[in-house]
Amino acid sequence: MTSKIIEAAVDGLHGVITIPGDKSVSHRSVMFAGLSDTPVRIVNFLRAQDCLSTVNCMRALGVNIADDGEELTICGKGLYGLNEPENIIDAGNSGTTLRLMLGILSGQKFLTTFTGDASLSKRPMQRVITPLTRMGASIVGRKINTLLPITVIPAKQRLTGITYEMPMASAQVKSAVLLAGLYAQGVTTVIEKYPSRDHTERMLKAFGVDITTQNGAISIRPADRLHAPAEIIVPGDISSAAYWLVAATVIPNSDIIIKNVGINKTRTGILDVLNNMGTNIELCGCRTDGGEPVADLHVRSARLHGIDIAADIIPRLVDEIPIITVAAILADGRTTINGAQELRVKESDRIKAICREFGKLTNAVTEKEDGLIIEGNSAFKYAQCDSHDDHRIAMALAVAGASGKGVEISGADCVNISYPQFYTTLEHLK
Ligand code: S3P
Repeated sequence: MTSKIIEAAVDGLHGVITIPGDKSVSHRSVMFAGLSDTPVRIVNFLRAQDCLSTVNCMRALGVNIADDGEELTICGKGLYGLNEPENIIDAGNSGTTLRLMLGILSGQKFLTTFTGDASLSKRPMQRVITPLTRMGASIVGRKINTLLPITVIPAKQRLTGITYEMPMASAQVKSAVLLAGLYAQGVTTVIEKYPSRDHTERMLKAFGVDITTQNGAISIRPADRLHAPAEIIVPGDISSAAYWLVAATVIPNSDIIIKNVGINKTRTGILDVLNNMGTNIELCGCRTDGGEPVADLHVRSARLHGIDIAADIIPRLVDEIPIITVAAILADGRTTINGAQELRVKESDRIKAICREFGKLTNAVTEKEDGLIIEGNSAFKYAQCDSHDDHRIAMALAVAGASGKGVEISGADCVNISYPQFYTTLEHLK
């Protein structure tokens, strides 16, 4: 296991950086292009392990994907032209690959089996299997059909559209049901309590699909084919930018510009939270690229204060809680994070991982079943910490070390899941 020592950033962070492509948009671009029947170029695709799991999966289903090192060119097989894979497909660490593909494969006439790494093998799949089974899909897995390996058996009849009220906030579950809805008879509707990321809805619309959103209900009608755009431009990932938003805020004398960050409002909970805490972030050059809003973010150091973070905003910042913890530890006063129980079923139990690892660097953090209580006005001491093989824990620990007295992180290379350039970017900014 690779261990990494991060040193304190004593002179602040400085420079202009670009952020790699958005993970969620990259996954969907490969899947939807693979289901269309005209070539699609994907610009700024995220070359990280999770998205490469989706590439491998679509290749295993017969989709032709060329990579010239700059762009991907995808020649899809059409909605009904995927091949039966010759082998078991490995979804690696990627929940998005597995859950969205289960939706797509529920409508196919062949058998597919998925496996994955130790973390993915433990993550709950019942949440997608329940609605897909209600639509007529036939899916079996280990431990009474809930865990990997999971097999999608060809359904005997065409799927039927359902109305599904989501029991939890999850863009992956929403997307799996909507994608199965492409193949189902009648209308499929998903009802969300709080809006989760809407990249599936936006991109399917750009592919000519009849999909509408009204008052938290997203409805999709089946399609005969997808009408792909010739090009998809993937915006920079705000979930990756979040580490620098916090790092440049909490490390004194910092002044950085982060170029080309996606600011889709279903993803900008981190900007709202940091603004409420007193950050100094300026949005410049707001524009739209490939159907997604994008801006450059100018971040300067600022003194923060604690706030209460409630359940309604959690889906808009669900991946940013580990790095928000760093901001809260260094802020004035107390921060509470509530309604974040979904963190317990991410790549690690993130509430537990945060408490255990940040507990080595400070004693500011207390565990709650659905979140955290963080006493501010704290500082980080040096410690040896563990990533729990979770990329977002590793990157949050690295920012804590850079803003404190340094940190040693074991299992540090898991950043390759979403941000392979993370450590070199940190050195570049120092
Ligand atoms: C994602 C949705 C979120 C997020 C994950 C990516 C997506 O997961 O945590 O990193 O691309 O749809 P949930 O749907 O489990 O909340």
